[in-house]
Amino acid sequence: MAHILMMTATSGTNFELAQKFVENARSKGHGTEIIDLAEIDLPMFTIARSKSEDAPDVSDLVAKLTDADAWVIIAPEYNGSMPPTLNNAIAWMSTDWKQFRDMCTGKPVGLATHSGGGGAHVIMAMRQQFSFIGADVIGRACLSGRDKEANPETIDAMIDNLAR
Ligand SMILES: Cc1cc2nc3c(=O)[nH]c(=O)nc-3n(C[C@H](O)[C@H](O)[C@H](O)COP(=O)(O)O)c2cc1C
Repeated sequence: MAHILMMTATSGTNFELAQKFVENARSKGHGTEIIDLAEIDLPMFTIARSKSEDAPDVSDLVAKLTDADAWVIIAPEYNGSMPPTLNNAIAWMSTDWKQFRDMCTGKPVGLATHSGGGGAHVIMAMRQQFSFIGADVIGRACLSGRDKEANPETIDAMIDNLAR
């Protein structure tokens, strides 16, 4: 059985979508956990802050992501791209390069969104980002929005693919 970590960028409809992934994974006996980046509320990354005593301790976050067998990243589209909570968390976690590389390299990653429109742009942005940092992003993604429910068959297939 796999341990699949769901990381949501926001606490609204995307958190609800994360819960759907959790339900599916648990029904198959996998271990799961949701990380809500909006809830964690990291300060904005700047070089100055990263060198000051105001730098947040992200070691727990890095440890959880490192220990997971796979991730599902769930984020709404903001202005045709990723929301700042996600980009910001990645910036903070990347300050320790070696640890960050160990965390990301070869990690199976699934992408999902609940966006105002179709969400295709945020999926493209996340695919580029997570591929760049060395993760193995799976081909299938879950797109949902105001006028489109998340397809349970897509969620089911993604969990099976990630747990392989
Ligand atoms: C600053 C901002 C920018 C947004 N830009 C887009 C966008 O480019 N495309 C889109 O489909 N929806 C856009 N939306 C709508 C969100 O994707 C949508 O409301 C989403 O469901 C919010 O997720 P949440 O309920 O988890 O907070 C935007 C919302 C905000 C607040």
